[in-house]
Amino acid sequence: MVKKRCFILAIIGSWAISGVAAAQYSQADVEAGFNLYNANCITCHGANGDSIPGVNLRTNQFRRAVTDADLNRLIQTGIAGTAMPPGRYTTADLAGLVAYIRSMRDFAAAPPRGDALRGQTIFEEKGNCTSCHRVNGKGSRVAPDLSDIGAIRSPDALQRSLIDPTGSMLPLNRYVRAVTRDGKTITGRRLNEDTYTVQLIDTEERLVSLIKSELREYTVLKTSAMPSYKEKLTSADLDDLVAYLRTLKGAR
Ligand code: HEC
Ligand code: HEC
Repeated sequence: MVKKRCFILAIIGSWAISGVAAAQYSQADVEAGFNLYNANCITCHGANGDSIPGVNLRTNQFRRAVTDADLNRLIQTGIAGTAMPPGRYTTADLAGLVAYIRSMRDFAAAPPRGDALRGQTIFEEKGNCTSCHRVNGKGSRVAPDLSDIGAIRSPDALQRSLIDPTGSMLPLNRYVRAVTRDGKTITGRRLNEDTYTVQLIDTEERLVSLIKSELREYTVLKTSAMPSYKEKLTSADLDDLVAYLRTLKGAR
């Protein structure tokens, strides 16, 4: 069963997981939508989408909207005679907002199997996750900041990151290895890249900017620096960790 699931997830690749509905939305859209939501909607609808009486974005309880197309239209036109304002968004922004609203439902659906409080202790102690990750200002910058990971990843995606880090790598997080002309090797997490330069956080947490034409070698690594915790932690520990990660919803 576990094997089969991993196989299917591998095929879905970068698509958001958890249920048939979510499979249509890409993680990039969900993430973009999360940022747009925080910037444009959260003041009225709240972090959990339930601040307006009679409308619960989190459980997808709407008065009018049924389909994604309805949501798309409502977000653009607003709702006349109510506080819901019209908004000018690009097609990509709308796709992101709808993906995020739909994902709120999926993220909220399954009650956590583990204990978030125990998960936090495992995160900070036994799992030593803070040696690479940062949460709310605590921990290392070597790996992505996880302060809002519960808002942008489904529980399934979180679980998968712990079991198969390499299989769940996102292009943005990739590690790169660069060798300078004088033979110095620098490895780090890519933050930004254009045709001529690349910026990364090296293993000492320093921000480094490199000019590509001055490098002898430049490789994007295909395996994650993160170890798999499949054998390192018990399945109860993993459930606790996922329960904890799901509580991390800090706005960026
Ligand atoms: C100024 C406050 C405000 C802001 C900002 C706002 N909304 Fe609303 N929204 C409302 C109110 C009030 C309603 C309920 C309208 C009604 O009475 O049916 C609503 C309703 C909705 C609905 C439910 C439609 C239905 O069929 O019931 C959706 C979906 C929605 N808003 C999405 C968004 C999104 C996405 C954003 C950000 C891009 C946003 N809203 C920004 C106030 C706001
Ligand atoms: C040796 C460093 C390292 C350690 C230790 C580590 N991670 Fe990671 N983790 C990473 C890196 C690097 C990534 C980004 C994925 C990649 O490799 O491109 C990542 C990705 C993740 C992601 C996915 C992030 C996303 O954007 O989807 C989660 C969730 C995560 N780690 C949780 C944990 C937890 C929980 C622990 C402790 C049990 C842990 N990590 C320990 C390096 C580490």
